[in-house]
Amino acid sequence: MQKRYHVTTFGCQMNEHDSERMKGMLESLGYSEAPERAEADLILFNTCSIRESADSRFIAHLGEAKRLKVEHPDRLIGVGGCWAQSVKEEVFERFPFVDVAFGPGQVHKLAEFLTSDSLTAQGYFEFEGFTGHLPARRARQFQGWMQISVGCNCACSYCIVPATRGREVSRPMHELVAEAQAMAADGVREVTLLGQNVNSYGRDLPAIGAAANGAAAASRPTFARLLAEIDAIDAIERIRYTSPHPKDMREDVIRAHAELASVCEHIHLPLQSGSSRILKAMRRTYDRRRYMERVAMIREHVPDVALTTDIIVGFPGETEEDFAQTLEVAEEVRYDAAFTFIFSPRRGTEAAAIGEGLVAHPVKVERMQRLLEVVQRGARERAQRFVGRTLDVLVEGASRTDPERLRGRTRHNKVVNFSGLATPGEITQVRVDSATSQTLAGQELLLARAGA
Ligand code: 5AD
Ligand code: SF4
Repeated sequence: MQKRYHVTTFGCQMNEHDSERMKGMLESLGYSEAPERAEADLILFNTCSIRESADSRFIAHLGEAKRLKVEHPDRLIGVGGCWAQSVKEEVFERFPFVDVAFGPGQVHKLAEFLTSDSLTAQGYFEFEGFTGHLPARRARQFQGWMQISVGCNCACSYCIVPATRGREVSRPMHELVAEAQAMAADGVREVTLLGQNVNSYGRDLPAIGAAANGAAAASRPTFARLLAEIDAIDAIERIRYTSPHPKDMREDVIRAHAELASVCEHIHLPLQSGSSRILKAMRRTYDRRRYMERVAMIREHVPDVALTTDIIVGFPGETEEDFAQTLEVAEEVRYDAAFTFIFSPRRGTEAAAIGEGLVAHPVKVERMQRLLEVVQRGARERAQRFVGRTLDVLVEGASRTDPERLRGRTRHNKVVNFSGLATPGEITQVRVDSATSQTLAGQELLLARAGA
């Protein structure tokens, strides 16, 4: 009988992407997907270690997998991703029922394990290569992810990623362009470029591309150049990326948003804190003023851009005055959306050594609530600029709240629920009638006209 797998993914888009590769690879080995974990012969977890909450959610799921393994001892259990990487061989000591564990660079090793006759548990944690060459099973045929680099050379004091994903390694540009072309030929209209710090892409690569006539000198590939190369692929109509680092956000990339038709009007620019003192302790290498200069430059070139961000509250030593500065920046920038996090100490990081208890938990919770209020008010106000406008929407499927309606995304990355007849994968025009802080609502233009 055909073997079946089940994958549960935690964490960021990078992990979602790796999971698609895992699924594609398993299907090429003859596995099919089981709708429920209880029906699977191979139970996989692609884990995250960015915050404590991600760890604890995963451990609860792992408990269920253990029960399923007791019922059927020949079931295999695999744990991949960042959490696995951060604890390495300890996985097997703490969870002896796990059969295979692998880090984020090790997805291909899963195939090796499954096709070998190994009876003992195996762990694979050395970074060897990208998953780019593995087949992917995309959740939606028309949207694809592309990993442009792995690892991170920053030293943000709260972050576990440099420890789990290692130094930054960029994939060669020609390989990425070829992959994007193949995706386009396969029906992809929107690509999202992934990296821990996308705009330092290429700094570790050799110079390329002196034009044959000598007109242009050879130069190192840059992120802006990569955007231009992918923009030149006709069938790709939307390019997104995540995440840039404010310190590396240069004018060439900002201009790409204004000048290249496929590069969407959305920039995710992680702030983390509005206090220069805390930014320094976080080792972000920019201060409040420099961050605001980047925002100003972005708005000057792309006035209608949607700006989103990540903010951490309760970093060790954050005072009321520091936090007030974060609120001020949020008020000033007025983000279209923000992801807000309560600081959680990660094992082995510099910030964990400073001490979690420096800001009391109830204070963190209270700051989080105040921040959310400011962020949501700003997002709601910003969203009103879309009301009355007609926007291009990439249809993703049925609306989650009303199956009679459709759901899609604007170039600004706003979710729109609308009435219409378009099918998933189409880009259609939608007239926006109302907006909340989170979503827009409207009508497909064709219908709006017919009704008028
Ligand atoms: N505690 C809280 N939030 C964190 N993030 C990263 N590390 C931590 C941590 N230790 C947040 C940052 C980052 C986002 C992906 O997760 O805001 O941008
Ligand atoms: Fe993604 Fe970071 Fe979580 Fe790894 S630790 S899955 S890179 S968010």
